[in-house]
Amino acid sequence: MFDIQKIRANFPILNRSVNNKQLIYFDNAATSQLPRVVIDTISNYYTTYNSNIHRGIHTLSSESTIQYELARQKVANFIHAKSADEIIFTRNATEGINLIAQSWLAPNIKPKDEIILTIMEHHSNIVPWVLLNKKYNKSSGVYLGDKIKINFLPLTTDRALDINKLDKLLTKHPKLVSLTHLSNVLGTINPIQEIIKKCHEASALVCVDASQSIAHLPINVQDLDCDFLVLSGHKMFGPSGIGAIYVKKRILEKMIPFLGGGEMVKDVSLDYIMFNELPYRFEAGTPNIAGAIGLGAAIDFLNSLDRTEIIKYENKLNKYLLKKSSAIDAVHIYSPLNPNLNAPIMAFNVGDIHSHDLASILDKEGIAIRSGHHCAKPLITTFKTSSVARASLTFYNTFDEIDKFILAIQKAKRLFRI
Ligand SMILES: Cc1ncc(COP(=O)(O)O)c(C=O)c1O
Repeated sequence: MFDIQKIRANFPILNRSVNNKQLIYFDNAATSQLPRVVIDTISNYYTTYNSNIHRGIHTLSSESTIQYELARQKVANFIHAKSADEIIFTRNATEGINLIAQSWLAPNIKPKDEIILTIMEHHSNIVPWVLLNKKYNKSSGVYLGDKIKINFLPLTTDRALDINKLDKLLTKHPKLVSLTHLSNVLGTINPIQEIIKKCHEASALVCVDASQSIAHLPINVQDLDCDFLVLSGHKMFGPSGIGAIYVKKRILEKMIPFLGGGEMVKDVSLDYIMFNELPYRFEAGTPNIAGAIGLGAAIDFLNSLDRTEIIKYENKLNKYLLKKSSAIDAVHIYSPLNPNLNAPIMAFNVGDIHSHDLASILDKEGIAIRSGHHCAKPLITTFKTSSVARASLTFYNTFDEIDKFILAIQKAKRLFRI
């Protein structure tokens, strides 16, 4: 049984007030909140066994190594990877995509190679690929160049990916298709399995950006058959500064580390180095040990919930949010209005109120939403505006909070005489 009060009791931050109002946190797509068990796990690490991993013989080091590697196994199990060796810890999803770009694509680029991205990507799934072009115009600060050609899959008029156009782009035999599973702006869930199948038929590898979907949907990398997948701890109820990537082992074996240093080498002499085993060769330097262990605790927490019930609840929240919001005159919703295809993430504007003004009016009511371009400028540009507001909900949000959000929007309308 889904018990919202029991769920909320796990998140201490939800008890705080902002501007003398009970906090309503609708900014989960930017960062989600941490359950007490994650905070306690991190605190316990620093209080009782803080030490560096892998290298030490002493008790503390062996305890932290065991917990760090256990966290890797938890990530592997959570996304159903075959082996923990296919999981590399990173700082976040952004670093994960940069790692794939630098360690897999860069060494393999041939003239005229193509890749496919989509218009709905977060900048972190655009810029790392553009950087490979390595042609920097100092005066304009713009990366240009034609080392790789990047094609962008457009959207349909309903703001879904235009899968029909994918077939045509795939005839050019791209090396890679890298795309988000769930749009951080629109909440759209992309038909990732169908896309991966099509890409593989055209011999293109697929990188899935699961930064948003990991918090809303179960993910099985073996069923999906994706080649790469990236995630960030702070968007899945874990700490910030920790993320992970999954790479199919046969691909990982051929990748070349792009960060060098301690931990990623087995042997070093003055004229040669030998890389460490997988996956350690991709984790140069001391990693975020507390972060990884905290992420492991977040995964345990998610596993303790009934995720089928969570999906049902989030779907109801989303329907309610869209119904109530679209009933207000002057609210323009950019997210698709078919809630069956969406996570509870709604991009919107209210009349001609700038989204930053709206966010600050809502903040006065204790409501945290995000405003601006959401690091997805190519997508926002298609809305013919430079800025939108976004309410992003998760399973600890409530219908009552949505009602208060609606009242706050009406207040903003009155203030702006709309
Ligand atoms: C879809 C998507 N991809 C990638 C990222 C980047 O995540 P991070 O900043 O944790 O690296 C975000 C962050 O908002 C996102 O929403």
